[in-house]
Amino acid sequence: MTTKPVPSLQRHAVPPGTASLADHERLARQCLDDNAWAYFSGGAADEITLAANHSAWDRITLQPRVLRALAGGHTRTTLLGRTLAHPILLAPIAFQRMAHPDGELASAYAAAALGAGLVLSTQSSTPVEAVAQAMQGDPASGPLWFQLYLQHDRGFTRELVQRAEAAGCDALVLTVDAPTSGARDRERRAGFRLPAGISAVHLAGLAPPPARLLSPGQSPLFDGLLHHAPTWADVQWLQSVTRLPVLLKGVLHPDDARQAAALGVAGLIVSNHGGRTLDTAPATAHALPRVAQAVQGALPLLVDGGIRRGTDVLKALALGASAVLLGRPAVYGLAHAGAAGVAHVLRLLRDELEIAMALTGCATLERVTPALLDLPALQTFTPRCARGDY
Ligand code: GLV
Repeated sequence: MTTKPVPSLQRHAVPPGTASLADHERLARQCLDDNAWAYFSGGAADEITLAANHSAWDRITLQPRVLRALAGGHTRTTLLGRTLAHPILLAPIAFQRMAHPDGELASAYAAAALGAGLVLSTQSSTPVEAVAQAMQGDPASGPLWFQLYLQHDRGFTRELVQRAEAAGCDALVLTVDAPTSGARDRERRAGFRLPAGISAVHLAGLAPPPARLLSPGQSPLFDGLLHHAPTWADVQWLQSVTRLPVLLKGVLHPDDARQAAALGVAGLIVSNHGGRTLDTAPATAHALPRVAQAVQGALPLLVDGGIRRGTDVLKALALGASAVLLGRPAVYGLAHAGAAGVAHVLRLLRDELEIAMALTGCATLERVTPALLDLPALQTFTPRCARGDY
């Protein structure tokens, strides 16, 4: 843990007996109001994908292996040229100050202390400069990536990219699965509103898109918002205006993965936006091996969605991921215990990963291959160890 003083953060203790990420979720429910709970925990429509994300990991069986040498093992890995203490990053989650007054700053200190990477949302309620400062103060810190929603004003978007670069971000993560939000029934039922004082600080000063007069019969979505939705050409545009590696987040289809690889993107995040966009989209545990097979190790894959256990992390790596992103559980830790809660969540997951590695006979992540999984159909995927380090 860092010894750097963090005077601006509230001090909390995680209640004794908090043993799992599910415990953090229960504690968060007790302190988040219905408005914030609907936003952070809800998914799209019937939440079929949200539930499938969880059950898909549960249904994969791990094969224990015995009597292998384990001493000196570790969870270290490399990603985009950097050594990480473990393959767990915090996912971009908007408006974290709605969960706790310390918001993204608490997540940043926790990530830095636990050597986790952090992907900061465009819709962060804390500026990237403050988050970067919190992370850069810790030598053991993982990478800071900036998640980007392309705005209708590409000039504004470019300035945002430059701002992330100047703050010291290591990569850009372009979200491609949300040209519009999903049908968020839970949020609508709760009458979700951002509380006073919470906003997407990076978007301050962004003028609204020019109004379009719709003729009768025109769709406010197709003839309005979607005029500004990103396309493959925008991926190339983004690559041309930044010196940072660009990853795409929200790729599920193997053909999209191949197209992204052909454009030379730096990595893909296999994601269905935590079940918040297209309901009934495949669980990420199902999409990941298909994407891995499509790109054949040409670029690093990350995955998020439903990861709640160290065994889930191990399964994700065995299916071809180089690292995982953790979303809701970190916000749950934040909600009830600030930075200490996020750090505890990360610590639990990493400890569970170590246990899972030991019990499957893997001293290092290089040993993690599809052979750990009791799914004969999955044996064709390129094992991580055959791809070398990224
Ligand atoms: C933002 O990305 C959201 O899913 O609400």
